Amino acid sequence: MALPQKDGFSSKFGIIAAAAGSAVGLGNIWRFPYITGENGGGAFLLIYIFFIIVIGIPVMLSEFVIGRRSQSNAMGSFKKLAPGTPWWLIGMMGIIAAFVILSFYSTVAGWTLEYIRLAFQNSFDGQDVTMLNQSFEEFTSGSFWPVLWQVIFMILTAGVVLAGVQKGIEKYTKILMPILLFMIIIVCFRSLTLPGSMKGLRFLFEPHFDKISFQGVLMALGQAAFSLSIGMGALITYGSYIRKDTPLLGTAVQVASVDTLIAILSGIMIFPALMALGQDPAAGPGLVFVTLPSIFQSMPGGQVFAIMFFILLAVAALTSTISVLEVVVAYMKEELNMSRKKATMIGGVSITILGVACTLSFGPLKDFQICGKTIFDIMNYISANVFLTFGALFIVLFTGWKLGKAEFLDELRQGGKINPVLANIIVFIIKYIAPIAVGAVAIGAFFIEGLT
Ligand code: PHE
Repeated sequence: MALPQKDGFSSKFGIIAAAAGSAVGLGNIWRFPYITGENGGGAFLLIYIFFIIVIGIPVMLSEFVIGRRSQSNAMGSFKKLAPGTPWWLIGMMGIIAAFVILSFYSTVAGWTLEYIRLAFQNSFDGQDVTMLNQSFEEFTSGSFWPVLWQVIFMILTAGVVLAGVQKGIEKYTKILMPILLFMIIIVCFRSLTLPGSMKGLRFLFEPHFDKISFQGVLMALGQAAFSLSIGMGALITYGSYIRKDTPLLGTAVQVASVDTLIAILSGIMIFPALMALGQDPAAGPGLVFVTLPSIFQSMPGGQVFAIMFFILLAVAALTSTISVLEVVVAYMKEELNMSRKKATMIGGVSITILGVACTLSFGPLKDFQICGKTIFDIMNYISANVFLTFGALFIVLFTGWKLGKAEFLDELRQGGKINPVLANIIVFIIKYIAPIAVGAVAIGAFFIEGLT
């Protein structure tokens, strides 16, 4: 039941750029280093890479197939491919996940805008780590500025989504992503040439499995899902915009590779500098906002570099936030028959309201905690470790057991031939390995260890 193509990406590079734009974002540059730092480094990285290959790529492939096959949004796709069954609940969960993710993500995205402003004013100049830490805390615990930046960021996101898929999403990602990669590589070089940097590399690459708990494994899985933008239908939505002649397997492998490369490079950028500065790798969400300005200061032309870097970081965040908002907008547009404009307005405004609560949880709402976690922490934790993890599980279950091998492979082959042995391996992973792996990690973390 292959459906005709609707409005979509105009070129093969367009979809790779857009999907990579969704994947590469704060998840790689902000979240990956601090979560890796909190979970002890090397062993976490290895488990993370294992999950990218065994779960990430199969889920991404499933999402592309579901989206392109059904030509529909995160929820509508399940209704079309499995009418009269409750599988659409996966889509519903994805749409809720979009609200949860964007609410806290836009907080951090807002911070990047403040850091652009600070870079323009050359405010990092002459500040040591303690001072940089202090300014970060002072800024994030405020109300007016962090909220204002968040609102501005949400307006930018809504603006691109409003412009529509081709004109908005594809155009920006194509040019800016390669520049970001280039700049990260330069910062890596600077970080590596700081005295004492080798300790950082050892931290990142030397595995000490004794430091890993089930929670740590769950965090690695959640981070892999978060970083690849899988588990909530963002890639189902984008999948519905992919042309029929685009090879899905190649696209998924390329997107996952770029995303993982940028995460690892971010680690190489942060940890050597961090150790050189004698900072704690488990410093939490402020990690890159303190470490990066320190590195920039030690670079010739540091201010210009800082300005460009934070602008590109904001752009990387923007190409991710648009893919999250697009999940909500495509759903409202296609299922609730709203215009793109109305859907973007309603989605954008309601997410912003939730987002403000996340932002204020660093300041006025700091003491409003559930199980020792602030609103921001809760959103951050459950989005990756609950919503995306279980979303990923249900998506592979759907592809493997409901959609079935024949339909899956038929869609996969539309863009070009696939080696039959490889095809069987992929189906086997989707049907058995990925669900068992996600299930085992979730059971281990939630039922054996319990929530920490
Ligand atoms: N992958 C994005 C990042 O790493 C975040 C994201 C998660 C985007 C889920 C879409 C869906 O920044």
